[in-house]
Order: sequence, then structure tokens, then C-alpha cells
Amino acid sequence: MITRKQLSRLGLFDAKVPRYTSYPTAPHFSNAVSPGDFASWIEAVPEGGTVSLYLHVPFCRRLCWFCACRTQGTATLGPVESYVQTLLSELDLLKAHLPRGVKLSRLHWGGGTPTLLSPGLMRALIDKVAEVAPFAEHAEFSVEIDPNEIDGERLDVLAAGGMNRASIGVQDFDEQIQATIGRPQGYDVTRRAVEMIRERGVASLNADILYGLPHQTRAKITETVQKLLSFAPDRVALYGYAHVPWMAKRQQMIPSDALPTPAERLDLFDTARRLFAWDGYAEIGIDHFATPDDGLAIAQKTGKLRRNFQGYTDDTSEVLIGLGASSISKFPQGYAQNAPATSAYTAAVREGRFATSRGHAFGGDDRLRARMIEMLMCDFRIRSEELEQDYGVSPAALKAMFSRANEQFEGLLEITEDGLFIPPEARPLTRMIARSFDAYDLSKAGHSSAI
Ligand SMILES: C[S@@+](CC[C@H](N)C(=O)[O-])C[C@H]1O[C@@H](n2cnc3c(N)ncnc32)[C@H](O)[C@@H]1O
Ligand code: SF4
Repeated sequence: MITRKQLSRLGLFDAKVPRYTSYPTAPHFSNAVSPGDFASWIEAVPEGGTVSLYLHVPFCRRLCWFCACRTQGTATLGPVESYVQTLLSELDLLKAHLPRGVKLSRLHWGGGTPTLLSPGLMRALIDKVAEVAPFAEHAEFSVEIDPNEIDGERLDVLAAGGMNRASIGVQDFDEQIQATIGRPQGYDVTRRAVEMIRERGVASLNADILYGLPHQTRAKITETVQKLLSFAPDRVALYGYAHVPWMAKRQQMIPSDALPTPAERLDLFDTARRLFAWDGYAEIGIDHFATPDDGLAIAQKTGKLRRNFQGYTDDTSEVLIGLGASSISKFPQGYAQNAPATSAYTAAVREGRFATSRGHAFGGDDRLRARMIEMLMCDFRIRSEELEQDYGVSPAALKAMFSRANEQFEGLLEITEDGLFIPPEARPLTRMIARSFDAYDLSKAGHSSAI
């Protein structure tokens, strides 16, 4: 039995560890990757293959205090219209470089709040994407929807454009918590958004909620989960609230003395986790839940769960192309990130070139370590056979790596001929265990707290 004391000693309550949506993590990107590299990596996509596409819309009508996402507030549509024009030009650039016959396995609109686009702007983006690459069979088109910022007309456009997965931001239903985190959102507003989404036949509903919020208690998170379950979402992301006011200045509005202690955070997560389990949801990786027939649950069962910048996915494409300010792309050759500032991004695209400003070209043992970390984050195990076959690493070298990790974690890990396994009681430590396979300077690796 692992105790709280032991979890604390092993770094759970004070470590700053990345969420490992990439390896190496974004703080390790450098200016070694240029717009020319990005263009050549796109050109290397096999003809007739599939890619995933992410479009970033970094605008919100109101800025929630808790939010750590890169986004800017706007009261008018002017800046958004001009940004979408740039996005359309960037899509034209992509089209010019993308080999023939490439199809989309996934299209995701994220932000910020993509649903603040007017119906006309949404349609323009949908049409342009279709010109660049059509959807592949069984493709998914998902959109992040703020229930406060959606209406029937916009949902009509999205549904007609093929949206088959809607992702709504809930955070918490409790009014005191909502007031403290600067995100008022009446239960009826969320319920109406869900009804409108369902009425349009959108096949799948995702929801984001948070644990570790100010004033959150076991009773309050129980109520939030129960209300959420009444919507029967297909997937839920239960993220740990990352309080990083030195980075996200808006969070200075949130009184830190109202935040739960690290031990209480663990308890809040566990309370919500049990409720989802009782309701028949499968636990996916470190912070997701899905109905047994959802793609994520099936991918997990069949060992095909993957992790990318959007979190857990069942997408099997090797290429994820991110467009828009600050977006990150992933290729078999490495990562490429667009300029984070909207001004620099716009200037580059208006001059007719890609806006890549940083990235990382894979070298050394990056791919091997990336896969090991992905396996831990997805399956809580590293399968040696796959690594030996795909990366030519020797069983002895793997064993040595596993033993070093196990020493660091006081023998809590299981090591067998098949590989390394994190037993359920040690899973709160998963990100820390993954970090022990990270070869980069750990002081730069991440910024969000371990739980
Ligand atoms: C980029 S936001 C977009 C959602 C959409 N704009 C909305 O408000 O509904 C996606 C999700 O990131 C999560 N998020 C934002 N700030 C966070 C923080 N400080 N810690 C943990 N998760 C956070 C929230 O759960 C949010 O729903
Ligand atoms: S939570 Fe959504 S609406 Fe609120 S600031 Fe973040 S991205 Fe914008």
C-alpha cells in the first residue's frame, strides 16, 4: 500500500512536471526549425496519405480568470475577421505544399473560443479546408465550444460542415466556484448548449471539468460530476487546475488561500474518478474518462491509444499540422511551432511564407524516449518488444533504464520480461515516472503542478 507520505516523498505534491503532450516538451524547442523545414516536412507526406489538421483561434469574448490558455479578449469581431483572413491564406500555403490525394483523418478547431466566429467566417474556413484536403472515411471534425458563446445558427453551420464531435467547457457547476474563477455559466446555459448540439445529430459530446479549483470540496465536485453525467457525455477530460499566476496574470484574481491543498486535490480527483467508474466510464490515461463504446476506450483496449498536443487520441495519422498563431505541428521528422504572437504570425503569412518560429528536429534517442513516455502516459506500461523491434534498442539497455527508474521510485514499479508496468496505486506518479525517462534539462521541462 502506497501512503500519502510516500507519494509526497516521491514528489507528487511539490514537483513541477510536464503533461507530456510532446517529447521533448515545448520549452526545449529552438529556432533550429525554419519555415523551410516546415514546408519540406509537409511535402514529404506520402501522396494519398492522411494527416490531421488543427486550427487555432486565440480570441475570447471574455477572459476567464482561471484560464492558462494563450488567448486574447476582444469585444468586436474586427480582429477576428482579420485573423481568419490570415488563417485562410495559411491554408492556401498549405495547399500549395501538400502532396496530391492527401485526406484529413481529423480536423480540430481549438482556442481560445472558435465558436465566437460569425457563421460566415465559420463557413469560409470550412470551405477552405475542404479545398485543401477532403475528409477521409470515418474522419472526425471536432470543435471546442464555450456554452456561453454558441447559438443555433452557428451550430447549424458546424453540423452542416461535418462536425461530429463537440467539446464543451464546463469547469464546475458550483456558483461560488464560478464567481471565484471568473467564469459564470449557468447550468441552464450549459444544458441548452448540449440540447442544441444533440438536436443537430452531432454524434459525440466531450466535456472538460477541473479539479483543484478554489472552494472546491468533495461534495461540490460530486454534484458537478452528477450534473455532468445527466448529459451522458461520451468523453470527459478531468484536468487538474494549474495555478500559475506568474505566467497567466489573470489568475492573480484568484485568492490562493481558497485553493485546496495538494492532498485535497488528490482526494477531489479520486472522488470524481470513482463516480465516473461507477457510471461505467473507462478510465483513459491520467485524466480522461470515456464510455466503453467511445473511440478512446476502444483504442485503449486495443493498445492504440496515442497522445498529442490535444491530449489523448485514437488518431493514427503520423502527421498533425497546426495552423494559426502558436500552433504546433508534429511530423515523423520533428515538431514545428508557429510564432506565438498574432502580429508576428500575421506578418509572416501576409508575406507569403509559413510562420514557423521554433521547433525540434528529432535526433539521438528522441523517438525512442518519446514513445516510452507516450506508452506510460497512455497505458501505464512500456512494452519492451515493440521498442526492440521499432527502435533497435537492446533488451539489456532497456532493463538498465527500467532499473534506474525503479530505484528512483523505491521499487514501486513492476519490471518483467515484457517491460515496465505502473501498478494502479502508483499511478498518481505517472507524470513523474515519465519524467525519469526525459533526457532534457528538467528545470525547463514544464510548469504545471504534478496533480
Ligand atoms: C482552450 S480552453 C477552450 C474552451 C472554451 N473556450 C471554453 O471556454 O469552453 C480548453 C480547456 O482548457 C482547460 N484549462 C484552461 N485553463 C486551465 C488551467 N489553468 N488549468 C487546467 N486546465 C485549464 C479548461 O478545462 C478548458 O475547457
Ligand atoms: S476558458 Fe475558454 S473562454 Fe475562458 S479564457 Fe479560456 S479559452 Fe477563453
